[in-house]
Amino acid sequence: MPSAAMWRNPAPASLGDRLGGALDRLREILFRAPAGAAGVRSIEATIRPVGREAAATGDRPGRARNRVTLVGAGPGDPELLTVAAVRAIQAAEVVLYDHLVGPGILDLIPAGAERVCVGKRSGCHSHSQESINSLLERHAATGRRIVRLKGGDPMVFGRAGEEIDHLRARGHEVTVVPGVTAALGCAASAGISLTRRGVSRSLTFVTAHGREGDLGEPDWARLASPTGTLAVYMGREQARRVATGLTGAGLSPGTPVLAIENGCRPDERRHWTTLRGLIEDGPLPGSGPTMLLIGAALAQGMPEEVAAILEATA
Ligand SMILES: C[S@@+](CC[C@H](N)C(=O)[O-])C[C@H]1O[C@@H](n2cnc3c(N)ncnc32)[C@H](O)[C@@H]1O
Repeated sequence: MPSAAMWRNPAPASLGDRLGGALDRLREILFRAPAGAAGVRSIEATIRPVGREAAATGDRPGRARNRVTLVGAGPGDPELLTVAAVRAIQAAEVVLYDHLVGPGILDLIPAGAERVCVGKRSGCHSHSQESINSLLERHAATGRRIVRLKGGDPMVFGRAGEEIDHLRARGHEVTVVPGVTAALGCAASAGISLTRRGVSRSLTFVTAHGREGDLGEPDWARLASPTGTLAVYMGREQARRVATGLTGAGLSPGTPVLAIENGCRPDERRHWTTLRGLIEDGPLPGSGPTMLLIGAALAQGMPEEVAAILEATA
């Protein structure tokens, strides 16, 4: 049984941090944009000075260790960045980013900051995780403010754990700013409730990708719940395998599937199908990041004409 003694409070904020927080809240109250008008530009204008001040406090003499901030960039739309993410990006002196980070977000990096692309596409050099870890450490050791910008949320299939371990083991302080993970951004974009009342009582983030720690085949029996929704990351090329595993474990072949490529970006594409369709059609076309949302809850968002076609071909 967990006891109260097992609970720990995070370290208390320093006086400077607390004062900074109070100032920030005051600024937010004073400069709040009218409802519905809060675009990235207005957020930027409101918090730019705060970001600078916060950055300056990060340089206090006597600060023991260099700080790296892992920042979630969300699925691509700059409007989905958190205020904390915009603040961290604008205060950065070096930004290491991966290929899933959208161009509108990179535009927020200060002109004078060094940008290092560590992704595998869009003209970036390919870096192994080990070389990204060393690169991060080398930049952190310079004492500059480092932001490691990652698509979605850094802690969801983002290999953040390895970067945090590597940096902390070498004495660097690491903080994390969460981001909107792709599954939630895609669901919102398509207007789908992933835990629709009376239909789905669980939501599982899963990857079928072999590279994720060599855990072997996913536990299809556990995933094949008719009252759950699955968000499958890195599933485009594995689509047939996922569908075969789920139907083999008893999930209905008629279970709706929505594949969203480049979710929350101007070039977003949606492809409706079923588990049966994934088995028959094999790997989904396209080359952009693709999210597979699977489960009965998806039926609510399915356009009528698509539902009719899928029913006719069942
Ligand atoms: C290495 S994982 C990173 C996930 C990320 N940390 C997150 O929280 O969204 C990459 C996978 O996330 C999904 N993904 C990321 N961005 C996406 C987007 N804009 N649209 C659809 N899927 C996306 C795809 O399945 C892609 O293969």
